[in-house]
Amino acid sequence: MNEYLPGLAGVPATKSNISDIDGENGILFYRGYPIEELAEHSSFEETSRLLLDGRLPTAQELADFTTQLTDNRHIKFYTRGMMKNLPATGHPMEMLQTVVASLGMFYPGSDCLTGSDACEDLDYIHNTTVKIMARMPCIVAMWEHIRNGYDPISPRSDLSYAENFLYMLTGQEPDPQLARIMDVCLILHAEHTINASTFAVLVNASTLANPYTVMAAAIGALSGPLHGGANQRVLEMLKEIGSPEKAEEYVDRKLANKEVIWGMGHREYKTKDPRATILQGLMDKFMADRGGNINPMFEIAKAVEAVCEDRLAKKGVYANVDFYSGLLYSEMGIPADQFTTIFAIARSAGWLAHWREQLSDNRIFRPTQVYTGEPRRGYVPISER
Ligand code: COA
Repeated sequence: MNEYLPGLAGVPATKSNISDIDGENGILFYRGYPIEELAEHSSFEETSRLLLDGRLPTAQELADFTTQLTDNRHIKFYTRGMMKNLPATGHPMEMLQTVVASLGMFYPGSDCLTGSDACEDLDYIHNTTVKIMARMPCIVAMWEHIRNGYDPISPRSDLSYAENFLYMLTGQEPDPQLARIMDVCLILHAEHTINASTFAVLVNASTLANPYTVMAAAIGALSGPLHGGANQRVLEMLKEIGSPEKAEEYVDRKLANKEVIWGMGHREYKTKDPRATILQGLMDKFMADRGGNINPMFEIAKAVEAVCEDRLAKKGVYANVDFYSGLLYSEMGIPADQFTTIFAIARSAGWLAHWREQLSDNRIFRPTQVYTGEPRRGYVPISER
């Protein structure tokens, strides 16, 4: 095949049995289960195990996995020291990429990955998965304190994954409703077929690079505003709009200038992103439960979505997952520049499932190109140029 398709749109890059999208009807499945059912009944710990193993865990398997994640929350003294020396003004995604990459130096052992037909060292894969998944939320939460000049808050072993993250981040006993919303956000962001960051996982995994490097590559890809970075931009956009009445003028001005509306549109969905629908439902319930005491930004978001639906639905552009997630995070007291790190924490489950899948049937990625440069020519000595 020699046809070049920009962005590899529609080009299968791998075979995978981890997740599937029905973009026409707006449906997302993890291992065959619709996301709506997982959001309603599952936890992030259980959904992660489902993504990693391909089946829902038994009660014992889930309990064991939860204990492993809890037991791996402590961060090495040297890592903390390194974090203290990073510039506080750096973006949290840059910090996360740096620290996750550095973990490979503390936890060597990837020599056991040989890229043969079967991935032979499942213990190494499982233990590394646990180490990465357990540490990522702790690193993000620690950074919030370190960059503000404080000592980080130690993890607690009596809290769930989502609860402990909120506790370490805010220092407050987590509100049960907000902790459950965070849990659902993590489930919704955990996996999404072969997007840019997951493709980065496949490419890096295929070289048998160590898994921390693989994850760091994925974090870098996710940090861009066209991918994970959009949720931060959504909140900044809503702040800029300022009130629901100004939504129409803002959207029309942006569209006239050929600028994007953050949190709108998705390569795969030609209808509303099912994750956005679930998040909107959570937001509506949260608003109803809090009575009048609600963030005015919620109303601005609804006004923007209504205008966008009128202007962009004909192009198949609707709200995506990032449109509502940032609003919910800001309600939890999380700063906007940390939104994408939460996306990365959640997506670590999907990334690691793809890492494992790639290793189980590996061939190094080596695509081709369409050369558009100069024809063959001879070297010209500098005196003759
Ligand atoms: N705002 C305004 N117009 C948009 C739009 C947006 N957010 N997203 C897509 N469109 C328009 C495009 O301008 C294009 O219009 P045209 O046909 O008149 O040129 C049309 O819809 C098709 O979009 P296209 O650029 O082909 O989509 P894509 O699949 O290449 O890009 C995104 C997908 C996600 C990169 C794109 O929708 C986008 O930039 N969204 C904003 C960033 C964002 O929220 N990212 C998070 C994704 S989860």
